[in-house]
Order: sequence, then structure tokens, then C-alpha cells
Amino acid sequence: MLEGRHLINSEDFSIEEIDSIISLAQNIISSPKRFSSICQGKLLGTLFFEPSTRTRLSFEAAMKRLGGEVIGFADGASSSAAKGESLVDTVQTVASYADILVMRHPKEGSSHLASAYLKVPMINAGDGGHQHPTQTLTDLLTITESKGRTSGLKVGFCGDLKFGRTVHSLVRAMSRYPDNEFVFISPKELHIPNHIKIVLEKEGVSFKEIERLEEVIDELDVLYMTRVQKERFFNEADYIRLKDSYILDKKKLKNAKEDLAILHPLPRVNEIHPEVDSDPRALYFKQMSYGMYVRMALIIKLLGVDNAEN
Ligand code: NCD
Repeated sequence: MLEGRHLINSEDFSIEEIDSIISLAQNIISSPKRFSSICQGKLLGTLFFEPSTRTRLSFEAAMKRLGGEVIGFADGASSSAAKGESLVDTVQTVASYADILVMRHPKEGSSHLASAYLKVPMINAGDGGHQHPTQTLTDLLTITESKGRTSGLKVGFCGDLKFGRTVHSLVRAMSRYPDNEFVFISPKELHIPNHIKIVLEKEGVSFKEIERLEEVIDELDVLYMTRVQKERFFNEADYIRLKDSYILDKKKLKNAKEDLAILHPLPRVNEIHPEVDSDPRALYFKQMSYGMYVRMALIIKLLGVDNAEN
């Protein structure tokens, strides 16, 4: 039962609950009209304290395509946070007007903190370098559509695995499906955090850490590319040194499997050369379009308006 729940971290939901969202998203894709007024009279509140294109607009489009309405702000500077209001007070204000909230904030743990004061569901749309669970739902739908499964896959994560919140959330979700194996490809300064490795070791999930993408590209079923997270660096020189560590191009793909799925949460900076975009294995634009459908499914489930549909 997902009605009334918060989604802060990807492990908040069981894999059965995640699968139910993915399969509802697939139903919405095949017959969107059936869902076009299911959220009539409901209001989504969006609180974006950090820049966003895809996540914010796909949430807004999702609510509108379900017949609901949206209020909120796209920039903390235009909210009373700029006057010194506490995060909890701002969030409680929007919660008193809306039926469900989505928040993106630069501080790790911010949505968890705010959700403790709420009676309406809170969705974490990214809390600093910590997690981004709705991107994970998007990624899992993309993998399901291309591979027909989310288990028994060798998944390479490449780029900024230290600050990349989408990586943290997807690893924590995919590690709970059977027989997935992970290869973490990054410079040593951008390794996946220890706390995630400790969980994987405890769960008995197989993983390795390497620096060169060429070493493993031929073994991968899924390659998840990421941007170096400039906004989380303390030091500009380190960013400049690391930003172009990986650039996926046609040459690097030469030994890759015919059915490799290339994902990227976007925005990309330099890490995938545009010449790869026309390769049938490049799924990142499709992935982006799935974002709206999984968010439609998530809103339906958290508001509990799907009872008539089941
Ligand atoms: C990601 C994010 O915000 O973490 N973007 C997104 O929501 N699709 C990835 C990123 O910014 O690199």
C-alpha cells in the first residue's frame, strides 16, 4: 500500500512496490486517456531550491496530464526562504495548500527532515549528493523496456560516483533484484561512497571498482554514464581536472555488446559525444521521456486514487 507514503530514498519502497509503479507507468503509456482526469481536484506543490529542467517539468506535466493542478516555485530565491524562513516552515506552508509535495534541495537529508512534519506525501526530487529516487524509477522503467528485466544484469556506472545521487539511488534499488553485478568506473577521487559499498558487501552483491571504461565495456548489459557534479565540488581546480575523465564515443563503443543499453540521467556536459546519439543503444532520450510516465504512476499511487483502476 503506497497511499500516503513518502519517497525519500529508493530503499523506502520494496521491489514489489517499485514494480507496481513501473507496471502502472507502462499501462499509462499504452492508454493515457484512461488516466487523464484521475487527479482532478488534486494539487501538487513543487519546491525547487536547486536548478532542474527534466525533473520539475516532468512532475508538472505528469500532474497536469492526470487532470490535477500544480503550485510552487522553481527557485528558492523567489520563496520566503530568501527572507530567512526555515525550510520546515516553508515546506509546511506549501503542504497546507497542496495534497502532495515534491522537493529538490542542495542539502543531503533535507527532504527526510521536512517529511517528518508532514501529513501529505513528500517526494524527494534530489537532496544534495545523496539520493534521487524518482530518477531511479525512470531508469528502472527504461531498463525494463529495453531488457525485459531488472535482474541478472551487469551494470557499469561511469563518472562521478561520489556525488552522483542518481547512481546512489539506482545502486540501492538494483542491488535488491537478484543476480545483478556492478562495475564502478571512476577516477579514485570520485569513487562510490563507502557506506554504499558496505551495504553491497552485507547483501552479498558482486561489484568491482576500476578506472578505465575500455577494460569492461564488452562485458556490460547496461552502461550508466554520469556528469561530474560541478556544484558539489569545493574546489574549481579539482573539477576542471576531473570533468572530462570519460567521454563515450563511437570508438569506445567498438567492443560493446550489440544490445548494450546506454543510459544517462541528463543533463550531459561532455561525457557522451553527440555522435553516439544516433546509435540504437543510446537510450537516454527515451529514458528522459519515460520520466513523466513514472511520475504520473507515482503520484497516482501516493494519492491512492488508483483504487478504481485495480
Ligand atoms: C540529475 C540530478 O539532478 O541529480 N538530473 C536529473 O534529475 N535528471 C543528474 C545530474 O544533474 O547530473
